[in-house]
Amino acid sequence: MIETHQIETEARRSLARILPRVEQTLKRSITKDPQAWRQFTVRLHDIFPSLLYLYAEVYSERYDFFYHLEDLVESMARLWFIRPQDLRELDDAREKNPHWFQSNQMLGGVCYVDLFANNLEGIRKKIPYFKELGLTYIHLMPLFKAPEGENDGGYAVSSYRDVNPSLGTMKQLSSLARDFREAGISLVVDLVFNHTSNEHLWAERAKQGDEEYMDFYRIFPSRELPSHYEQNLREIFPEEHAGAFSPFIINGKEHWVWTTFHSYQWDLNYANPAVFNRMAEEMLFLANQGVEVLRLDAVAFIWKQLGTGCENLPQAHTLIKAFNAVARIASPALTFKSEAIVHPDDVVKYISPEECQISYNPLLMALLWNSLATRKIRLLSQALAKRFKLGAGTAWVNYVRVHDDIGWTFSDEDAAILGVNGGDHRRFLNEFYRGRFEGSFARGLPFQENPVTGDCRISGTCASLAGLEKALHEEGEKEVELAVRRILLIHGIILTVGGIPLIYLGDEIGTLNDYTYRDDPAHERDSRWVHRPRADWEKYKKRNNLHSLEGHIFHGFRTMIELRKQNDVFAGGELEIIPTENEHVLGFMRTHDGKRAVVFANFSESPQTIAPRIIGQYSITSLKKLHGRNHVSPNSSLPLEPLDFVVFG
Ligand code: GLC
Ligand code: GLC
Repeated sequence: MIETHQIETEARRSLARILPRVEQTLKRSITKDPQAWRQFTVRLHDIFPSLLYLYAEVYSERYDFFYHLEDLVESMARLWFIRPQDLRELDDAREKNPHWFQSNQMLGGVCYVDLFANNLEGIRKKIPYFKELGLTYIHLMPLFKAPEGENDGGYAVSSYRDVNPSLGTMKQLSSLARDFREAGISLVVDLVFNHTSNEHLWAERAKQGDEEYMDFYRIFPSRELPSHYEQNLREIFPEEHAGAFSPFIINGKEHWVWTTFHSYQWDLNYANPAVFNRMAEEMLFLANQGVEVLRLDAVAFIWKQLGTGCENLPQAHTLIKAFNAVARIASPALTFKSEAIVHPDDVVKYISPEECQISYNPLLMALLWNSLATRKIRLLSQALAKRFKLGAGTAWVNYVRVHDDIGWTFSDEDAAILGVNGGDHRRFLNEFYRGRFEGSFARGLPFQENPVTGDCRISGTCASLAGLEKALHEEGEKEVELAVRRILLIHGIILTVGGIPLIYLGDEIGTLNDYTYRDDPAHERDSRWVHRPRADWEKYKKRNNLHSLEGHIFHGFRTMIELRKQNDVFAGGELEIIPTENEHVLGFMRTHDGKRAVVFANFSESPQTIAPRIIGQYSITSLKKLHGRNHVSPNSSLPLEPLDFVVFG
């Protein structure tokens, strides 16, 4: 263990060596903008000890450690010099208010640029719509240059500095970011940093046998070592390729490259500090375009070590913290969002002000769907009681659907406490959401079925999984109403439970599965495309007509969004689970600044009641009813309609 004062001494010594050399190299920029240099060095002195500590943890054994460290400092300085003034002002504002994202005004939306509005200019024209819905955070799915045809929805990036020409230009992206900011919206994009596409310049060079670039990836001259690694690896996309490696040819000879996801997505080699430095530059480049939140894609996979599962290793955390330190030096306004769809014990390890300030909450997502299927709330209630609270300066991003499949990432140990067998229960959930279980309302598809283990995950839009598709095509009005209530119920929870709610755009008008992906050779093998349809603006036009289905759903969303925005108790403060003594009804109370709100969510299709004792204990009669169909009168029980979502505050 190195002592703090030792680090500070070492940091001072290293900077004394590095800074004069960087000053020499950047003389011209410094003379032109001495104030910027001063700002930079203040932050550098402040944060460099942490950065050094982290960087050394991973790279100190390298003979060329100081060369790379100096190179990193120089990159940060270069990118700081070209950081636009308005963003430097945003840096100051965010440093003064680092908890900006914890406000009840925050509301996220996510969409594909092409599918939602054709291109970046189209997205700009949708700003009035985003404001109408109340969004303050928009995640535009990967919009960078990518291979033609299959590119994993853009997650195979060929250049982080070029927008896919069919969507627009980098210049348009930065001016969009500015327009967003004026409209009170933060731009979120991915940093796909675990891998690049096999067409990225680095990969192209590696394919030509250039050793400098071969060392950017995990490339092996034979299948031997890969097979050793594979003894402990999970298969992520087994339908696409077995194992985690793909063959390619260099100078007529077969080689194997690490490909956790698709064979055209090459995993980067972070054991090489040059990879860290180059990716840090790409990150700062994007920050300088006005990106405010970076969604760190596939965080769990960035470090590999023989004999381990190569997920969630300690070095992955160290590296992300090092990126965070780089950001605090050269683009402090940047916020990191973690995408770790792993065991809940591991998910939380990525969340801290020094690592990722915000994170997807895959557990809440999975358990909302679990409660709809089982009509019972015990796993959900247990998870909220035990796993929802986060440390200061961080927040969950709560969602019900995104562009990916649903994996049942609850904890087997938690389930066992309630007498539930995790494996069996996952099999049940998969059957249920594929519509193969008696009483299922869902129309989902299997994703990445593994013939060896029998595992799979589930694809489908929120509406189709919640029963709307089946109700419209096979049932009737009553079932349609129940499906709408399911959609609103789970969204009601993410809007009131705390953290940042995130809406997968299209869900607010009840978009159904789109099976046409099967006709597209670039998509037919990936069922996630069933829930990535093109936005239907004819349907959106009906959103204010309360007699239309779209209007009915949209109005439900708008009402609950308003509720959130008018009561800060739904963001800050504390969450307490209410034991409702009814296995179908989730209850929780939020308190903040002396205010409180109580929420009940009935996950069953039959009416339920909450006993007078509980009404009394939480003095609910002293609160006003803010949402829901039912009233409560003193000393009597609270009746809840099927799938009702009730809020008192
Ligand atoms: C993330 C993305 C997913 C993609 C994978 C590989 O998990 O959400 O869509 O397939 O990373 O980049
Ligand atoms: C796996 C990965 C996750 C990714 C997903 C895509 O679950 O753990 O990162 O989003 O696959 O399907």
